[in-house]
Amino acid sequence: MTVPVSLPAGFEWGFATAAYQIEGAVDEGGRGKSIWDKFCHLQPTRTKGANGDVACDHYHRYEEDFDLLSTYGAQAYRFSIAWSRIIPLGGRNDPVNESGIAFYNRLIDSLLARGITPWITLYHWDLPQELHDRYGGWLNVTESQLDFERYAMVCYERFGDRVKNWITFNEPWIVSIFGYATGGNAPGRSSTNEQCTEGNTATEPWIVGKALIMSHARAVALYNKLFRPSHHGRIGISLNGDYYEPWDSHDERDKAAAERRMEFHIGWFANPIFLAQDYPPCMREQLGERLPKFSPSDFALLREAEVDFYGMNYYTSQFSRHREQPALETDFIGNVDELQENCEGISVGEKSGVHWLRSSPDLFRKHLTRVYNLYGKPIYITENGCPCPGEDRMRCKEAVNDTYRVNYFKDHLDAVAKAICFDGTVVKGYFAWSLLDNLEWSDGYEVRFGVTYVDYDTLKRTPKKSAMLLKQILNERIQVD
Ligand code: NOJ
Repeated sequence: MTVPVSLPAGFEWGFATAAYQIEGAVDEGGRGKSIWDKFCHLQPTRTKGANGDVACDHYHRYEEDFDLLSTYGAQAYRFSIAWSRIIPLGGRNDPVNESGIAFYNRLIDSLLARGITPWITLYHWDLPQELHDRYGGWLNVTESQLDFERYAMVCYERFGDRVKNWITFNEPWIVSIFGYATGGNAPGRSSTNEQCTEGNTATEPWIVGKALIMSHARAVALYNKLFRPSHHGRIGISLNGDYYEPWDSHDERDKAAAERRMEFHIGWFANPIFLAQDYPPCMREQLGERLPKFSPSDFALLREAEVDFYGMNYYTSQFSRHREQPALETDFIGNVDELQENCEGISVGEKSGVHWLRSSPDLFRKHLTRVYNLYGKPIYITENGCPCPGEDRMRCKEAVNDTYRVNYFKDHLDAVAKAICFDGTVVKGYFAWSLLDNLEWSDGYEVRFGVTYVDYDTLKRTPKKSAMLLKQILNERIQVD
């Protein structure tokens, strides 16, 4: 029997969720509407008829869910705050909702009572609708960063005595591209999607990207200046991004295409955030004037906004192939073709329960090491997980035997251990996505990423095999001090 490569002592692990995907209770406790409420209700066909009105009813069942976390042996739990529960209208002069504050205080205290470390994401996609209506939300770079800064301030002030781990944004690439280029996510703006009546794919995603980067920078600079000295916490951001291999590894043009693809996905945010530098040169070259510029004062703020870690959400990898034709104005992936199989018919990995995800742990290792070498910050894997093949059609009895997910976790944790041991990459923690089956955004409730099965008729929770096995997999590997 081979001994598994070990993970360092102190390696932190747990499960992750996001407010709109699990909370429900959208009209309770004074919560204001978010862009996701509007998106789901105005155009139900775009979310397969699903919405977050009830979701997993975590708002009322959090004690039961945290008991599960304890049973599963989690040390940490990553969740997001719904901005519109805390400040229903969202703006810097709008009132704070005490009932929303009390709800998140209950969550935090209840986690701490169980010995579980809270990790808070400030923004997991649910912008207060009012800010979108008032001034265009993320399309207004100046206003949105001031409102986000005040929201962050309220969170640090009210929760920061007990919460020491902060993530400003979850997946800004998805916010910009799905929200404003493809229109598949709220607020659903696009000029290339027939279902959308508003939007400009050629310009809006790049404006939104800058608004997110500067909002992040303000929130981090604020933390560093006013809160870090007494709170002694950590702050970072969670970026998504698949790893891209060249379609033909002997072709220099395909190699350049794979790098360009990652620059458009990761470098777009990582260069300004982790290096206080301009966007990658290939983006400037392709997008020209459509890519907003950073002023000297923007750069000064970016330099002040030093973070503690790189939060990585990793699910899958792809191949990238050079494309001959010139880029369209609406291209947002660096003018490449992306494929799941390469010219030799080699696949990036085994198919999962969703078309976009294949299990590709070896490429995960490469990805970890590339990101660490480029941006130099310790990495926390803030999401990793999958739905099993056919799980969307399974009943509870079948779904709990989630062997595919168990193997996915094992293989990906093995890749993490190897990246640490053999490549010198610093990875400090791991969050499995997700604690519960939940609302998979525009894919509705059919796509199940949870280690806990949720019956959406009764809201009963049933642990799947993977829920308990994760503890075992990690305990076998984490070294004892
Ligand atoms: C990343 C997102 O952060 C999360 O909300 C989503 O459910 C998972 N990916 C799975 O697609």
